[in-house]
Amino acid sequence: MLYAQIMAGGIGKRMGNVPLPKQFLMLGSKPIIIHTIEKFILNDQFDMILVSIPESWIDYTNEIFEKYKVKDDRIRVIAGGKERNDTIQNAINYIEKNIGLNDDDWIVAHDAVRPFITKKIIDENIKAASNFEAVDTVVPAFDTIVRGDGTEVSEIPVRDEMYQGQTPQSFKIKAFQDGFSALSDEQKAILSDTAKIILLSGKKVGMVAGELSNIKITTPYDLRIANAILLTGHTAGE
Ligand code: CTP
Repeated sequence: MLYAQIMAGGIGKRMGNVPLPKQFLMLGSKPIIIHTIEKFILNDQFDMILVSIPESWIDYTNEIFEKYKVKDDRIRVIAGGKERNDTIQNAINYIEKNIGLNDDDWIVAHDAVRPFITKKIIDENIKAASNFEAVDTVVPAFDTIVRGDGTEVSEIPVRDEMYQGQTPQSFKIKAFQDGFSALSDEQKAILSDTAKIILLSGKKVGMVAGELSNIKITTPYDLRIANAILLTGHTAGE
C-alpha cells in the first residue's frame, strides 16, 4: 500500500501569538492545510491519505474539510503525537490496527505547512521508492553552510555537496521501524529527521529534487512570502 501522510500534528510555536495552529491560518482564500491536501487528493497513486492533527483539533479539521469541500474516500483524520516521530508512529499504529502492515508499505510524509508542493515532486518521490528504503526531497544549498558552535567555526563543507532538506520524506514503514528501534533513548529524543534515522541504520536513502517554492511556513515572515508566491505564481526553478 502507498500512503500519504499530511504532517499537521504541531502547533506552530514559532508563528507567535496566533489563534490557531499555523496549518489552519488563511493563505489567500483558504487555510494552508487545504492547499496542501488538495495536491495529494489530485494524485491517484495513493491508496490512503492520513492527515495527522493535534487531537483537540480533529473536529475543527473535519469542519473545515467540509467547508472547503475536501472530500475523498481515502482521507483519514487521525491524532498526531507530541514529537514529529510520535506523529509518524501514531500513523503506523493506525495502519497496523485498521489495515494491517505489509513489508513493502510506503509512506510519503509531507509537512502540512508546505502548501506549494507540486505533482512533480510527489511523483518523483513515488518513483524513487523502487530503488531505495527512503527518499529525501532536497534543493541545492545556495548559501555556504558553516558548522560551528555559534562562537567558533569548525568546518566549512564544500557547498556543491550541500543540500537543504524539504519534504516529502518518503520511506518504507519497515525501514523506519527497524531504524527507530535500533536508536538509543537519547537518540530517539533528539533525532526528528526520518531520512537520518533510516540512514543511520545503514540503509540507502535517495534524493529527489525539490523546488525553491516548496517553502515551509514557520514564521509570520514566511506567511507573507507564501502570500506573495500565491499572488505571483510558482514555477520550477523561478
Ligand atoms: N508536526 C507534526 N507533529 C509534531 C510536530 C510537528 O506533525 N509533533 C508537523 C507540523 O504540524 C508541521 C510540520 O510537522 O506541519 C513541520 O514542523 P514545524 O514547522 O516544526 O511545525 P511545528 O512543530 O508546528 O512548529 P514550531 O516548531 O514552531 O512549534
